[in-house]
Amino acid sequence: SKTVKHTFEVSYFSGLPDGVWVNNILCINGKFPGPTIEAEVGDVLEVTVINKIQDGQNVTIHWHGLHQRGTQFQDGPSQITQCPLKHGSTQVYTFPLLQPGTFWYHSHVNSQYTEGLWGSMIVRGTPEIWQELYDEELLITLNDWYHSTAKENEEWFMSAKSGGAPPFPSSVLMNGVGRYPCGYSILQRRLCSPYSQKRPVFKVQPGKTYRLRLINVSGWVAFNFTVSGHILTPIEVDSVDLAANQAPHHAVYIGAGQRYSFLLRADAGVEGDEFLIRANLRREFLFTKPGNINPYPEVVIDEVTGVLRYSDSKPAKVRGSLLLQPSFETFDYSRTYIQAETWSSLEFLPEMSLTPYDGVPTPSHYDTEVLLQIVFQNDDQGFRRGSFNGKPFQLTREKPILGKLVNGIPIPVDSMPVYTQYGSVVQVIINNPEAGPHPIHLHGHYFWVVGRGQSGDGSYNETLHQLSLSGYKRDTVLVKEKSWLALRFLADNPGVWLMHCHIDWHNLSGMAMVFVEAPELASTIKVPLEAKKVCADHNVFI
Ligand code: C2O
Ligand code: CU
Repeated sequence: SKTVKHTFEVSYFSGLPDGVWVNNILCINGKFPGPTIEAEVGDVLEVTVINKIQDGQNVTIHWHGLHQRGTQFQDGPSQITQCPLKHGSTQVYTFPLLQPGTFWYHSHVNSQYTEGLWGSMIVRGTPEIWQELYDEELLITLNDWYHSTAKENEEWFMSAKSGGAPPFPSSVLMNGVGRYPCGYSILQRRLCSPYSQKRPVFKVQPGKTYRLRLINVSGWVAFNFTVSGHILTPIEVDSVDLAANQAPHHAVYIGAGQRYSFLLRADAGVEGDEFLIRANLRREFLFTKPGNINPYPEVVIDEVTGVLRYSDSKPAKVRGSLLLQPSFETFDYSRTYIQAETWSSLEFLPEMSLTPYDGVPTPSHYDTEVLLQIVFQNDDQGFRRGSFNGKPFQLTREKPILGKLVNGIPIPVDSMPVYTQYGSVVQVIINNPEAGPHPIHLHGHYFWVVGRGQSGDGSYNETLHQLSLSGYKRDTVLVKEKSWLALRFLADNPGVWLMHCHIDWHNLSGMAMVFVEAPELASTIKVPLEAKKVCADHNVFI
């Protein structure tokens, strides 16, 4: 094992990821997306974050999917597990990497990550259980992209005129690049260059098998994803390794915060063939058609594409990396690519049938049950807020909640705390009466999905609905429109763990709550010096 070190200097840069010039890309070391972290289980990750954000914003980094056992103060959400890092200051995150899988990291302050402050993270197992099934690895990230600033978007979402509809993305990106029709940028009075509109091209060698890691880093949208002419065999979901021989499918529906690994065999063609890799915004996300209520009248690009190119030449790899690096090429409209059937003819991955490798059974009972009803309402100042149970989550002042816990200070009720005893099993029922899906993410844990279904008002009914102990688990799940979902997790990670909707606008407006886990063991939680220092910058002492 080794220490994997990175330095993240965070600041704004200008750029044109989809061809349209914007000034507010929140970059790491001048780059968007941030660097891909690659490491092995047992390594220690050490990331030094330097906040150089020009307008003085605070920053934090959350390591999405890592459970931070014993390193609770390094989880990242501002005012939950740490004080936010001030402008001009430095924070060193350091923790052992204990789980293999596909992860990502992102800012956990306001909606900063929708301005670009994110990157991918791969932790490889030692041994990596399905390693012998593939030759090389590919990585694809998908996200929505906004020409308006995060601040404008937040204000729009919170205003009464949005009616609870999130700001509409300008375009969608694959591996940080995309395409916006320059003709429309005139409406925005923005510079636009078709030559900067790129797509990632992945060179694969005929006959080889690839591990395709897919991450949705969106602020809002879910995608349909497919690789034309190829089948996708899942081997990992949200860093949970899957049992052998999962059924292959053509396409997957992936929500914000979710990850998959698929085996992809390059056996559909010969040298020179080119297949489209397609990611399409789901229809549910088009209910706020621009021109209707969106303040930024634009035409949204609802599909982003990459290219899988069969080639005998060896593709490039960065030294020490196991990932093939794509090349970024401008759109060549004279070229024709092999494209799959229509979306409706593709067979989608049925996620409930995915079985984990570890074979750990779903807990057959639970000790605590929590009911979360998804609600949107105007608050007394006329701001539109999402919440669980009509009680919008409020960020606590002064000490972060975890600091309050270790200092024995009561946790305010508007943090929506649910207290769980060490080792207890928690069942959470989420009812979604809304017309859109919500990707619900739990920090610090995997959870087992024990049931889901549609019902008229999206409510679970104990006498009508069956739960199942299928063993299916992950850390971010889509609670679909007009649907309920039931999950269980084992509360064996002392600390304070956020559960929230990963639609950033919903999270920000209040669709969040915390589990205060094993408060009886709070005195065993170590407060790192770094956490004290970052708080002391705010005159807050833990
Ligand atoms: Cu990606 Cu609170 O998380
Ligand atoms: Cu939501």
